Amino acid sequence: MAEVVVVEDERAAGELVAGSIVSLIRQKPDAVLGLATGSTPLASYRALAARIGAESIDVRGVRGFALDEYVGLPDGHPESYRAVITREVVEPLGLTPELVRVPNGDPATIEHAGADYEAAITAAGGVDLQILGIGRTGHIGFNEPGSSLASLTRVKTLTEPTRVDNARFFDSPEDVPMHCITQGIGTILRARHLVLLAFGDAKAEAVAAAVEGGVSASQPGSAIQLHPHATVIVDEAAASRLANLEYYRHAWANKPAWQGI
Ligand code: PGA
Repeated sequence: MAEVVVVEDERAAGELVAGSIVSLIRQKPDAVLGLATGSTPLASYRALAARIGAESIDVRGVRGFALDEYVGLPDGHPESYRAVITREVVEPLGLTPELVRVPNGDPATIEHAGADYEAAITAAGGVDLQILGIGRTGHIGFNEPGSSLASLTRVKTLTEPTRVDNARFFDSPEDVPMHCITQGIGTILRARHLVLLAFGDAKAEAVAAAVEGGVSASQPGSAIQLHPHATVIVDEAAASRLANLEYYRHAWANKPAWQGI
């Protein structure tokens, strides 16, 4: 079972995630982080940047792999995930840009971009800690419902609800690309620690399905139940549909401090 931690707000979640990443980097200065985009992880990146600054943590050797990228956005487009990861993660954290990879969404090389990305993750020794958001559709990365639980990095077609959700980042809904390249569910499951974050009512159903529903390709988030070390950090609103909520609170309140998340 995934560990469920209910926190007061995104800021508190960010502190928890930042604490876990800081201990990882202290033990392993060339740690490999799995990076999510979207609004959900932003508080974690801010908290982590603050800790790195305040404690002068050397992050020059830290490596990163983004979960996904749109296919076909022009180079340098501000909403490409390459640009978002540079703006929200690489620059504020002071990471070494060459050590942070994003899947390549260039249509000219897309046929082998998935295999190339898998090879790069393997060459790096795998992801140590993977940050995940979850979409209203239940997607993790851009693995929409129906994605094989064994899938590797490949091109996917976005669902219309996901394109509508992401339209806020573009001038018009039609500008949201139809295709993406995303780490597969099988890729994500190989990371050594999964940290799934979700905030707000709109995510409550997807969180309940991921944590307590049947494991199914129809609910890609439910794949976390197959992982030996998955942590789900949610606010009260996102936790509101969980049947075993009281047990999760009890377990967290009584967790030995040395275990961390
Ligand atoms: P959000 O997206 O963080 O912008 O809500 C999450 C996701 O789609 O995975």
